[in-house]
Amino acid sequence: MVQLVFWSLMIPEGAQARHGRQPGPGLSATSGIKSPHTIPDWSAARLWLRIAPSRDGGCARRCQGTVTFGAHEEAMTFRLAQISDTHLSGRKPFFVENFNLIVAALAASAPDLVVNTGDVSLDGAAEDDDLAEARRLHDAIGLPVRCIPGNHDVGESHDLPGTREPLVSAASRARYLRHFGDDFWHLDVPGWRLIAIDSQLLAGSLEAAVVQADFIAQAAASSMGRRLALLVHKPLFDASAAETAVTGRFVNPGARGRLLAAFGTQRPAVIASGHVHQYRSTLSEGARHIWAPSTGFIIPDARQPRYGEKEVGYVEHRFEADGSHSSVFVRVAGLKRLDIADFAEEAYGVKP
Ligand SMILES: [Fe+2]
Ligand SMILES: [Fe+2]
Repeated sequence: MVQLVFWSLMIPEGAQARHGRQPGPGLSATSGIKSPHTIPDWSAARLWLRIAPSRDGGCARRCQGTVTFGAHEEAMTFRLAQISDTHLSGRKPFFVENFNLIVAALAASAPDLVVNTGDVSLDGAAEDDDLAEARRLHDAIGLPVRCIPGNHDVGESHDLPGTREPLVSAASRARYLRHFGDDFWHLDVPGWRLIAIDSQLLAGSLEAAVVQADFIAQAAASSMGRRLALLVHKPLFDASAAETAVTGRFVNPGARGRLLAAFGTQRPAVIASGHVHQYRSTLSEGARHIWAPSTGFIIPDARQPRYGEKEVGYVEHRFEADGSHSSVFVRVAGLKRLDIADFAEEAYGVKP
């Protein structure tokens, strides 16, 4: 005997929830809507349908389907589209055309959730308008969307001496929060807890850094047997957590050590990041590390080593209720493989 439980992630104003599912043999339905994860800025309404074991049945079967307004679709999988490094701006819209092609591909694919893992904006750390335009373009996706910030959205980490970028501050972070909401959050899907964090707070003494560290420890400790997936702008390292180099490319050693320690014994099984503008999927120290490429541009070999594939596109993750996971790099037809060398001076004032 299993029981159907519905809960909603967001119901837009005026919308009427409906679903077409009839409980099958051996199922009982609990109708109604609970809202454990109300996310007010999500732009699409969606209901989640979960088949949970009843008290007496001992049935291990778990299943999830999505019920959208006007269409009913069964799925056993939580499909998360990870976009990254969109670098959007209305003033300097160099990467908007590629973004819109990605949006069309996402609309056709209809994942359960789109997550942008940072550098959402071209220069949101300095230009509020870039954050506003990035938000407007994300609202147009028409699917549930959540974001975390990158260095170009809130500023660089405090453990990178000599950087030419402004450092993250309470003020720059507040600007991001105003446009995009929380910069660290977690979301439970069947079998998994997704923990999304602000990599720019992993070093330094901002009050929010302390709050985030507590949040990570709490989210890991209370995961109740779910596997953990970490979403973070910067990759944790290239080949090993023991690396000692201080760079702007990965989470630096001190911050990395504190981050992993915060997870305690509940280490993430999947770590999905952006920032490097390369696609890569590797297994290291018991975790799958997936680097999403930028939707907009690659960084040429003269400026950055080749760690993986220097392509543009996005990554689709499939999180299964039994705790398994897979991902695939999605190449989108028509996307231009733009090279930042052709835009660096105009976009960021960097000489080619
Ligand atoms: Fe980026
Ligand atoms: Fe970045």
